Amino acid sequence: MLTLAIDADITLRMLEIEDADALFRLIDENRRHLREWLPWVDSNATIEDTRMFILSAHEQHTGNLGFQTGVWFRGQIAGVIGFHRIDWQNRNVEIGYWLGAEFQGHGIVTKACRRLVDYAFDEYRLNRVQIRCATENRKSCAIIERLGFNREGLNRQAEYLYDHYVDLYVYGMTAEEWRSRSGGNAAARKNGSPHGNNSSPTERS
Ligand SMILES: CC(C)(COP(=O)(O)OP(=O)(O)OC[C@H]1O[C@@H](n2cnc3c(N)ncnc32)[C@H](O)[C@@H]1OP(=O)(O)O)[C@@H](O)C(=O)NCCC(=O)NCCS
Repeated sequence: MLTLAIDADITLRMLEIEDADALFRLIDENRRHLREWLPWVDSNATIEDTRMFILSAHEQHTGNLGFQTGVWFRGQIAGVIGFHRIDWQNRNVEIGYWLGAEFQGHGIVTKACRRLVDYAFDEYRLNRVQIRCATENRKSCAIIERLGFNREGLNRQAEYLYDHYVDLYVYGMTAEEWRSRSGGNAAARKNGSPHGNNSSPTERS
């Protein structure tokens, strides 16, 4: 099972069908919080919908198209972070994430996202990672900028959120840029297992 230990408090682990109840409860308790920026919340209305999400994530992983992990914080499921389907033709991938409201403010997604970017470049050997974020979603934009991504452009009215469209900033990072930013941390990363069980967060900023 794919598990990435980030630090003493945070672990990323591929979602299993047994996680459906806890994951659905987290979504259900956070509908208002998540609806502000995520378009899929209403369509995840029952535990069965959450199971289907987990099953489709397994298919994605089996097809070598990336993976979705649950984010565990001090033993509790706190959210989800993962790759959209990898574009192998162009060696490109996009990352998405969310946390329950009570888990915000600990730097969890900054650390988790950094680990997935490492994974994209070091394990999948991709060339580019993209993250798109609503222009008004300041918390999420701050994460991406903290990680050193370049803001490359803006897609106008690119996402429909229930009753309105939002503009999305497009952020990108290339493998070359990430390696030059990581500097001395590259060796430390190499010493960790590919699945990160003994790796520590690679602090860049
Ligand atoms: C956006 C979202 C994922 C942010 O999660 P988060 O874990 O709080 O984000 P970060 O990892 O960047 O944490 C940042 C906060 O932790 C604090 N922090 C504590 N330790 C930190 C550390 N070691 N590193 C970075 N930040 C740290 C920061 O000061 C910052 O606090 P602030 O928000 O009060 O300024 C979360 O708000 C969310 O799920 N929102 C709804 C869904 C969503 O918008 N998804 C993204 C769509 S593009």
